[in-house]
Amino acid sequence: MKLLVTGGAGFIGSAVVRLAVARGHQVVNLDALTYAACLDNVATVADDPLYSFEHADIRDRAALDHIFATHKPDAVMHLAAESHVDRSIDGPGDFIETNITGTYNMLEAARGYWVGAGRPDGFRFHHISTDEVYGSLPSDPEVLFTEDTGYDPRSPYSASKASSDHLVRAWFETYGLPVVLTNCSNNYGPYHFPEKLIPVVILNALAGKPLPIYGDGSNIRDWLYVEDHADALLLVVAKGEVGRSYNIGGENERTNLELVKTLCAILDQKRPKAQGSYADQITFVADRPGHDARYAIDPARIRDELGWRPSVTVEQGLERTVQWYLDNEDWWRALQGRSGVGQRLGVKA
Ligand SMILES: NC(=O)c1ccc[n+]([C@@H]2O[C@H](COP(=O)([O-])OP(=O)(O)OC[C@H]3O[C@@H](n4cnc5c(N)ncnc54)[C@H](O)[C@@H]3O)[C@@H](O)[C@H]2O)c1
Repeated sequence: MKLLVTGGAGFIGSAVVRLAVARGHQVVNLDALTYAACLDNVATVADDPLYSFEHADIRDRAALDHIFATHKPDAVMHLAAESHVDRSIDGPGDFIETNITGTYNMLEAARGYWVGAGRPDGFRFHHISTDEVYGSLPSDPEVLFTEDTGYDPRSPYSASKASSDHLVRAWFETYGLPVVLTNCSNNYGPYHFPEKLIPVVILNALAGKPLPIYGDGSNIRDWLYVEDHADALLLVVAKGEVGRSYNIGGENERTNLELVKTLCAILDQKRPKAQGSYADQITFVADRPGHDARYAIDPARIRDELGWRPSVTVEQGLERTVQWYLDNEDWWRALQGRSGVGQRLGVKA
């Protein structure tokens, strides 16, 4: 299959690119290379004849038309987005332009190409989204996000992703564009940009800095190893039913405080401090405005209909992740100087 992957120089997109090439797919990586991108994320496939790169912005419709005409993809996997909730609180404009208008441009460019090619049956537009579109769950562990949960986004980021999901469904209903959608829980793993919780905790711990926990640390997230997400995405783009969405999650609910304590325990084993535990560096800081209390995915549809299951437990995945950061200091050091990294963002109410 020839895949056009947007956002393939980011965290999840690069995992998709690496896995797709390893499985023998041709991949065109379209990325604007924003602050969140790093071409080193795809260095292992950069010289592979199956891989090519297009430096382009999804806000630029003419560039998208040119890329579709040049590469003639069998499927689009659309991951390019502004993705950091805290940045969306400080500057929502980029989220509106990239996540909503950019997705609109992708849909129109894909539709023009698909119609021009005679509406091939096998074409897919796979929109990659988040569970954050569903809002916040109560603490009752029986209550989970299903594909039928109503949308209730509460941050500029999640509202922009919800808007893009609605556009994608509208292009299916109105124009018949063969779309599939996925909504995934929080990812973690190698190449996670060092402004997100897990890399911040690992890198601050190693630097002897405070490990910031928003509020009282009771917010619950459902964690999924990024390579398992990439595997699920390649399954959905190939076998997902047109017009449907699939929730993807690891069934690994943890409070932020539990997660940080687990990371500290792994670091205590792998790189013991001269005295005490990394957990001694935990510091509670002002909460994020509108911080959703709990996200948790019911992955029954993708499990029962497509046979997908995550390959690692959260303990195995976190252990691999910590080891990866210990082994790849050059990668993360190069990103720490980027704008906003290491600063507290998103505290404006
Ligand atoms: N990180 C998560 O836990 C998570 C969970 C569920 C869904 N998602 C979704 O998965 C996708 C990828 O997330 P991520 O964490 O890898 O994000 P990321 O921020 O690491 O990467 C985003 C990539 O998109 C590119 N990009 C941004 N704006 C662009 C534009 N205008 N034109 C072209 N490229 C642009 C960036 O350069 C970057 O390479 C997003 O759509 C996000 O909403 C993320």
